[in-house]
This record gives sequence, structure tokens and C-alpha cells, in this order.
Amino acid sequence: MPTLVIVGAQWGDEAKGKMVDVLGSEAEIVVRYSGGNNAGHTVIADGKEYKFQLIPAGILHPNVTAVLGGGMVVCPKGLLEELDRTVALKGEIGKLKVSSAAHVVFPYHRLLDKLEEEHREHKLGTTSRGIGPAYQDKVARFGIRMGEFVRPERLEPRLREVLSFKNRLIKMFGEQPIDFDELYTEYSGYAERIRPYVTDIEVLIQDAVASKKRVLFEGAQGTFLDLDSGTYPFVTSGHPTAGGAVIGTGIGPRDIESVLGVCKAYTTRVGGGPFPTELLDAIGEEIREKGKEYGTVTGRGRRCGWLDLVLLKHSCRLNSINGLIVTRLDVLSGFEHLKVCTGYRLDGQELNYVPTETSEFERVEPIYKEVPGWSGDLRKARSLNDLPEEARNYLTFMEDFTGVPTAILSIGPDREETIMVRPELIWNERSRNQVGVA
Ligand code: IMP
Repeated sequence: MPTLVIVGAQWGDEAKGKMVDVLGSEAEIVVRYSGGNNAGHTVIADGKEYKFQLIPAGILHPNVTAVLGGGMVVCPKGLLEELDRTVALKGEIGKLKVSSAAHVVFPYHRLLDKLEEEHREHKLGTTSRGIGPAYQDKVARFGIRMGEFVRPERLEPRLREVLSFKNRLIKMFGEQPIDFDELYTEYSGYAERIRPYVTDIEVLIQDAVASKKRVLFEGAQGTFLDLDSGTYPFVTSGHPTAGGAVIGTGIGPRDIESVLGVCKAYTTRVGGGPFPTELLDAIGEEIREKGKEYGTVTGRGRRCGWLDLVLLKHSCRLNSINGLIVTRLDVLSGFEHLKVCTGYRLDGQELNYVPTETSEFERVEPIYKEVPGWSGDLRKARSLNDLPEEARNYLTFMEDFTGVPTAILSIGPDREETIMVRPELIWNERSRNQVGVA
């Protein structure tokens, strides 16, 4: 049962896209299970830069079937633009399938996202892609799913019903209502083009799992943006945690065999919300510049800080992570000393866990351990032995603290800048010889 979940172990942007591209080439099916075009992956392959927001990066491999799962909210216009862009750059790509259960994001969701955010006292800093309002409709059992979207006899009455309600809300905010005819004409055009890709994906995935094909489940965003396990309300509306892989994909928890958690060697966060190890000084600025920490979707500068091991350990437990994929170790080169957070202090007490109540988490102070830094360009390393001793010790410290071994180390954006440290943690039946095994 070679099933693998790749999950963001922090607040998103851990460079999952590159890893899904690298490991996706070994899978038959790659399934994205949560979120929408609030996510952004940049993959560099064959000297070209590909940007993905909805489609799993695995589509770059012609033998891969890329699936948009039922837990997603999908902007049809964004999906078609992304598909056209990828085909124009790559030529032959894998097969695309979109779950009939995925929800459709319409322009009224984006407008309401903006209006809600303006109304909030403590801004979430959403990506303005209508994600929250689309999930609200799903939970309210009012949303339009892909299965309905591509059936004109269903889309017309449903869109009419939903839009008349949304327009009441929009008018309450003093905004111009959305014209039904214009919206229907534009979106039924998208539906025409998307129809061939929309299907029941559950059986496809179940059959693949039953016949021991490799299936990779790709999480979007990160663990602490999870609606239930994250720093609520400063979260997204889907389920980026590994549990999300069994929602809307057709499999159950016992079908998941391996969970790899992607984490940066430091921490970043976009948008509002608590971030105990955030660096609001020149070091934070240096990490942002060296790591090019600017959002793929919004272009916003990411908040940067030291590695928070309390957070990472919690993430390992929440997701049953059996191997870490550590990224961006190269960015930390050049600092004489580095700090890692090994505990929190709250009202004079030491805590070794992440408090659930966000108003408490906002007040914790990090307890740091200072460790020696290293210098030099790590991007040329092809095995652990090529790394400076201090960098190897940094990794060992992460492993000892979290109790989870490193499976893969990424030391640059290119596919080649990847060290397979423990390939046996990736697919259980793995027995091949990996180039660069440490
Ligand atoms: P939304 O998902 O657009 O509703 O935004 C909710 C929160 O999640 C905001 O703080 C966003 O910055 C954050 N967020 C959403 N998607 C991503 C992502 O892919 N990476 C990092 N942060 C994200």
C-alpha cells in the first residue's frame, strides 16, 4: 500500500511544491486534498519556472494523473489559466481529474472575502481568493459543487438561487450587486471547458490503492493554518493537516502509510496571527532577503523567525509524521550563531507544548538555545557528508527534539539540490538505489 501524504509542517510555504514534483514523478496518482488558489507552488524543472495554485505539481510528468480532490474549493477561471499556462510551457503533461465533490469559487466569494476582512477588527490577512466564503457555503450546504457546475440544467437554477441570496448581502454592505446573466454567461463557458475533467475520483483512488499503485496526497498551506488544529481564527478554512487527506478523496485513515512533514530550517508566516519566534529586526530582514520570502500568490513579504521546535514537534504528533523533509537549510548559511526555540514561557511558567487558546499562544515568550552557525554555499552538497559539521549538528538537533528522522534535505530550489537522506521512509516498498543517498 504505497500511499504517501506530504504535509506542510509549519504555517505553509515550506516548499512542498518542489517535493511534490520530485516525489510525484514516482507516483501514478497525485491528489491535492485541500484549499484552493490561496496556495502557491513554484517548481523549477528543466530550467523553466512553473507556478501552480490548484493543480498538483505532479502534472508535469506525463505518466501521472493529477487529481483535484473533493476537499478543495476551485476557481474555474484560475484552473483554466493554470492549465493553459502549463501546457504552453511544458507541452505534454499528465492527466487532469477534478472531483465532482470539489466546490466552485465564484466572484461573489471573492467580494465577500474582501468585505468580511474589511469588517474585522483583527485582520486575518487572507489571500482575497474567496476561500473562506466558499467553505462557508459548503458548510451551510449552499455551495455549488463541480458535479453541478458542469451540468447546465443544474447550474442555471442553482446559481440563480445562490446569487439572489448573495446579492442581498452584497447590497447590505452598500456594494453593487452582481448581474446574473453576465456571471452565468462567463461561468457556463468555463464549465464547458472543465466538464471533460470532472469525474468521481473516489473509485479511481480506491482502486489504485487496492492494486498497490503509488498514490501521493499533497497538502496545501501548513498545519498551523488548519481550521481545527491551527491558530484559530488566524487560519485558512480547509484541512491542510494529514487528516485532510482522507476527506473527499475516498480513502480511510488506515490507507495512509507514510506521512512526510515539510519544514523550513527556520519559520515563516504570512498574514496575521501569533508567531512566537518572529524576528522583527535585521536578522529577520536578512532571512527574508536571502530566502526570497515573498508570497507566490500575493507577493507579500513573509514574516520570518527562528526555528520553533515546540511547534514542529506538535506538528509531528498532529500529523503522525514519520519523516521530515527539511528545506532551505542553505538560507541559514553565514550566521555566526543560530537560535532554536525549545520551550515557551507564559506567566512565569515554562510550557513544552502549543497552547490551544490563541490569546495564550499570542503571549508566550520563546525559550531559545543558541547553536553554532556555519558558512559556505550548501547548494552544491549532494550528500550529508558534504555539509559543514555545524549544519549536520543542526539537523541532528531537530531530529532529537522532535523524535522524527530526516527523510529528505532540500538545499536549493532545483530538483538536483535534494539529498535523499533516508529513502526507505518515503514509499514503504522502496528498494531502489537513490543517487545522493547519504
Ligand atoms: P485564506 O486561506 O485566503 O482565507 O487566508 C487565511 C490565512 O491563511 C491568511 O493568514 C493567509 O495568509 C494564510 N494562507 C492561505 N494560504 C496560504 C499559503 O499557501 N501559504 C501561507 N499562508 C497562507
